[in-house]
Amino acid sequence: MNENRNLIDIKENPYNLFNHWFAKAKLEEINDPNAMNLATVSNDLQPSSRMVLLKSFNVSGFIFYTNLKSKKGESIKNNAQVALNFYWKSLQRQVRIEGKAKIVDKEEANQYFDTRPDESKISAWASKQSSELKSREELENRVKYFNNKFTGTKIPRPLNWIGYRVEPKLFEFWKHMPFRLHDRVEFTKKDNNWLGKKLYP
Ligand SMILES: Cc1cc2nc3c(=O)[nH]c(=O)nc-3n(C[C@H](O)[C@H](O)[C@H](O)COP(=O)(O)O)c2cc1C
Repeated sequence: MNENRNLIDIKENPYNLFNHWFAKAKLEEINDPNAMNLATVSNDLQPSSRMVLLKSFNVSGFIFYTNLKSKKGESIKNNAQVALNFYWKSLQRQVRIEGKAKIVDKEEANQYFDTRPDESKISAWASKQSSELKSREELENRVKYFNNKFTGTKIPRPLNWIGYRVEPKLFEFWKHMPFRLHDRVEFTKKDNNWLGKKLYP
């Protein structure tokens, strides 16, 4: 049982470890290695989760983009504590993150918005994310409307389309091991240092 263990080192820095695992996922995970589950808890304590895409990360946090007025946006407004979960099936690895979501600077959101294809920019204008849609036609008409509106001009970022940075206070790295004796390391922050400890699988 002790052979080929290659266990996670509890002395690792969780950001370096994430960087390392994410680089491997980008090489080996066939689809959307940057897909992550985002869990929020609403005002009435109802948890809710959905997938979003990680757009960048560094020691200040993990950034995704969405609509401020969406269900998740409304939840975060009332309760900024969120959880992220990456599952890389091809790697047999999972990373859990818990922390606080904060809206990114407008300039940073503008910069990222500018890199997107025009079609995606128009979709951001057309979608009242998480509101009731009465018919597909209604959405298509909104796409046409904003296409016309912005013909020949640079498409600006809709004010509701923003990024959140999740600042982690907890990481868990999980690695599949034979017979469900998986390797788990949880990192929590104490006095600006990350402390790692093993957890039973
Ligand atoms: C793989 C995948 C990636 C997604 N990425 C995003 C994203 O980056 N931003 C986003 O707003 N929605 C994304 N979505 C759609 C969300 O899962 C969700 O349907 C939408 O954000 C509305 O969620 P809400 O009503 O809980 O706010 C993605 C869905 C999938 C399946």
